[in-house]
Amino acid sequence: MSPSADLSNPHSLPTHSPRLGQNKWKRKRERGKVVWYRKKQFKGILGLVCLVGLFFIFNGFMLLRLQLDDETSGNKDMSVQNSPSISVSIKDGLKKIGKGKMPRKDTYDRMLALAAHSLAKNKHEPKELWQGPFVPASAWRPCADHRDWNPSEGNNGYILVTANGGMNQQRVAVCNAVVIARLLNSSLVIPRFMYSSVWRDVSQFSHIYQEEHFINYLTPDIRIVKELPKELQSLDLEAIGSTVTDVDVPKESEPSFYLKSILPILLKNRVVHFVGFGNRLAFDPIPFQLQRLRCRCNFHALQFVPKIQETGALLLQRLRKHATHPGSLDHYLTGPFAEPNLKGKVGHAVKASRYLAIHLRFEIDMLAHSLCEYGGGEEERKELEAYREIHFPALTHLKNTTELRSPALLRSEGLCPLTPEEAVLMLAALGFRRKTHMFIAGANIYGGRSRLTALTSLYPNLFTKEKLLSATELKPFMNFSSQLAALDFIACTASDAFAMTDSGSQLSSLVSGFRIYYGGGKMPTIRPNKRRLADIFMKNNTIEWKLFEQRVRKAVRQTKHVFERPKARSVYRYPRCKECMCLTE
Ligand SMILES: *[C@@H]1O[C@H](CO)[C@@H](O)[C@H](O)[C@H]1NC(C)=O
Ligand SMILES: *[C@@H]1O[C@H](CO)[C@@H](O)[C@H](O)[C@H]1NC(C)=O
Ligand SMILES: *[C@@H]1O[C@H](CO)[C@@H](O)[C@H](O)[C@H]1NC(C)=O
Ligand SMILES: *[C@@H]1O[C@H](CO)[C@@H](O)[C@H](O)[C@H]1NC(C)=O
Repeated sequence: MSPSADLSNPHSLPTHSPRLGQNKWKRKRERGKVVWYRKKQFKGILGLVCLVGLFFIFNGFMLLRLQLDDETSGNKDMSVQNSPSISVSIKDGLKKIGKGKMPRKDTYDRMLALAAHSLAKNKHEPKELWQGPFVPASAWRPCADHRDWNPSEGNNGYILVTANGGMNQQRVAVCNAVVIARLLNSSLVIPRFMYSSVWRDVSQFSHIYQEEHFINYLTPDIRIVKELPKELQSLDLEAIGSTVTDVDVPKESEPSFYLKSILPILLKNRVVHFVGFGNRLAFDPIPFQLQRLRCRCNFHALQFVPKIQETGALLLQRLRKHATHPGSLDHYLTGPFAEPNLKGKVGHAVKASRYLAIHLRFEIDMLAHSLCEYGGGEEERKELEAYREIHFPALTHLKNTTELRSPALLRSEGLCPLTPEEAVLMLAALGFRRKTHMFIAGANIYGGRSRLTALTSLYPNLFTKEKLLSATELKPFMNFSSQLAALDFIACTASDAFAMTDSGSQLSSLVSGFRIYYGGGKMPTIRPNKRRLADIFMKNNTIEWKLFEQRVRKAVRQTKHVFERPKARSVYRYPRCKECMCLTE
């Protein structure tokens, strides 16, 4: 569960717009850009071949991928009750839990049995599992809080933003709006969050973030007000042309766009209202200090409200088995609640038990959007099709009218989200021991609990926030998917190791960025290269465990190196850049 992740573009910029159906013309305009971007990712071999060959089809299709609203169901009802449950036959006394009517033979039975066998040997964990690339990474230090300018007086009118998506997408929109306000010398009104039928969450900014801290922390940068001045409140913004939707602003617009197209509206009407505002500001080129402001907003100005901090801290304490020392990031996430209550425990320090957090982005919206198949046969196909028709009509239309790549091809290219079975095989191959404590975020798993059978039978110490918190403790958060997502965000960010199953997910992306920014090189993130993994999984019928282990470890090791933010990539996800972090030495 987590209103968080986006859909499966493998190295995605978190880009998306929920107004899929309305963006036809925009999409055409953006084509050139996205194609260029995809080319870069594939760097030769397959990518180029595909791009040339399938130019047209591919194009429209990838655009949709990139545009999709990247947030999942927070606490959407488990919309899928009838999916086939898997039956995992695991040797060595592991339990067979699979319930459900028609157990189906799973593709990965053989591999899962090998994994169980290997875990039963209780081998030593490779050391680097819980370590980051400390030496190169620790040279980067947070410094987005350094300022080198005078406050903007904000005289050029007011910027209003109503951000769409789930919590993580909104967070990005808020920080982008802060930058726009500074760019246009305007005042920012505390952002609003759009109610969506998917998230069904009425939470507003002040339900999630500390409003006073936000305003005060950014005072040296921009002027932030709680409401529009009276005389502007009565204006019909739409009628006077001050409402600006995502159709009016090209995705990843550069500052020049705002100066040319938005500033005149602002000067004329004194107010501009951005509606949606998903990924409407480019990452490059952006003036140095504005980029730094963006990081300052994300890493320093947005703090969760005490209600979330307190419950988040409780979650962390239980995950760590009541350790007497908080983890190194806890303080940034849970503020004053990070210090555990030491009453009655003073004097003997309890060693913290470490935990691995996994964001399993295996939720129905993601799967429907991926156009992949997940072994559930006709029933699954129908269900995902139906979901697509309701939520992604543009995708259904494209599928009806164009020859798209087959599910098998998508899978072989690593464009499908990892299944829970694939995720557990990856973790076992990496060497995480059976007794490892695991926290699962994004737990509205498609197919329900039974789909987690492989995971729970190989790793019995599996926790979700629903399992760690009592019903009473969770009650204040029920029906607020964004606030629940904030709890997942805290548990993932503070974890001793974090594994994502889809690098395009917005939650995973923001969490990784936080771990880089505040982690001092000690907070490892496992980021599978799905394309390589797909190659390895293709051999599921024959590959020996030893070789599987070697290949998976190699594929994951290669993603751990430390690098500076690539051009045009998100500063929220890759804060290692001179604007956000400073190189020591
Ligand atoms: C904002 O203010 C600065 C400093 O006063 C000025 O240099 C800049 O041109 C102004 N920009 C706009 C868009 O008004
Ligand atoms: C796509 O085709 C199916 C039947 O093949 C039809 O039911 C559906 O309405 C079509 N959807 C769109 C958006 O064209
Ligand atoms: C959540 O919403 C549902 C339906 O809208 C309602 O029945 C339920 O009581 C709500 N739960 C809480 C804890 O407010
Ligand atoms: C498992 O192996 C078979 C045979 O090699 C292959 O056809 C199938 O696609 C593989 N499954 C996955 C999910 O890769």
